[in-house]
Amino acid sequence: MKDVHELQSRRLNFILELLLEKTKEFADLNRDQPLEWSIMHMYSCSQLAKLLAIKRGLDQEIAGIAGAIHDLAIIETGIFKDHGPNGANLVRDFLKNYNKRFGDSYGFISDEEIELIVKATIHHSDKKQYSGDTFVELIKDVDSFDRYLHGKETYDFYVERTNRVLKDLNYPLL
Ligand SMILES: [Fe+2]
Repeated sequence: MKDVHELQSRRLNFILELLLEKTKEFADLNRDQPLEWSIMHMYSCSQLAKLLAIKRGLDQEIAGIAGAIHDLAIIETGIFKDHGPNGANLVRDFLKNYNKRFGDSYGFISDEEIELIVKATIHHSDKKQYSGDTFVELIKDVDSFDRYLHGKETYDFYVERTNRVLKDLNYPLL
């Protein structure tokens, strides 16, 4: 049991370390959002994504990685506008580079898994739209739920998604 659990966290935990290092590289940028928020959001989204993935029968570690990395464009550019689509190449390059340098030690992320994470990154800001893609929708829901838990401003479309999570977890709705 312990080994299985470790296997479902090794890549994610190391990627979180790499991402934290990256935030230091870009710490001096003028930012649309405080870097502290990006760091908090990165960690909490990764854990919430795992939690919800278990409930929804999706791969918990890949969900955790997507939760951690979906705002990479904000970390690297400081710019909020279009950060989903602008994150596609950054996320793909980051994960391919991870494979090249650390895949042997921590486990490879397959091309299919990388593209799932890239797709979720591209579309995660389209909160008002519901696609048929369970993985993309999971990241949108988690992003909304995490903002709610952190007390960020809450629009109707975030509440709707937060309620989807609360419902899945058998918690009272907002
Ligand atoms: Fe975002």
